[in-house]
Amino acid sequence: MKNIVLIGFMGSGKSTIGNRLARRLRYQFVDTDYEIEQVTDLTVAQIFAKYGVKRFRGEEALLVSKLADRKGLVIATGGGLVIKPENVEQLKKNGILIGLEASPETICKRVRNKRTRPLLARRNLQETVERMLEERKDAYSVAEFTVNVDRLAPDQAVDIIIEYLK
Ligand code: S3P
Repeated sequence: MKNIVLIGFMGSGKSTIGNRLARRLRYQFVDTDYEIEQVTDLTVAQIFAKYGVKRFRGEEALLVSKLADRKGLVIATGGGLVIKPENVEQLKKNGILIGLEASPETICKRVRNKRTRPLLARRNLQETVERMLEERKDAYSVAEFTVNVDRLAPDQAVDIIIEYLK
């Protein structure tokens, strides 16, 4: 029972799709942002504001090292977690990496008006998203299978992933 690891940009639906996928597969669902919030007793936004991005990435790396040896998990990763090749390497040991991909327009629609993502708290949202997607292209290309979610409801994305895993 390899872990199923969802990777992709903020707003691509990793948490929603991951949750439903876990229920369908009867796997345990783990959301890395949520786990980090529990461990630190701070929200992601608070960690960024108080300690900065480096500390947050450190928490992610620590969590990955704990999750890598476990089995039967669906893991929804934070959008920047796969920037670190060490994280990818560890997650691949016992996991299948599935990418969720969305256009800048879809992402902007989904993340607008949400104050939970410090890296997108800028005035020019579309420009920021486009730039970050470009910067992270290689990081997201480590997925062995990628689903474009632009025109999919979450359950349709789940069906496609389950079909791929068969
Ligand atoms: C981040 C994505 C966020 C969260 C943090 C940083 C990123 O997770 O980990 O705000 O660098 O892309 P989601 O992808 O779940 O929004």
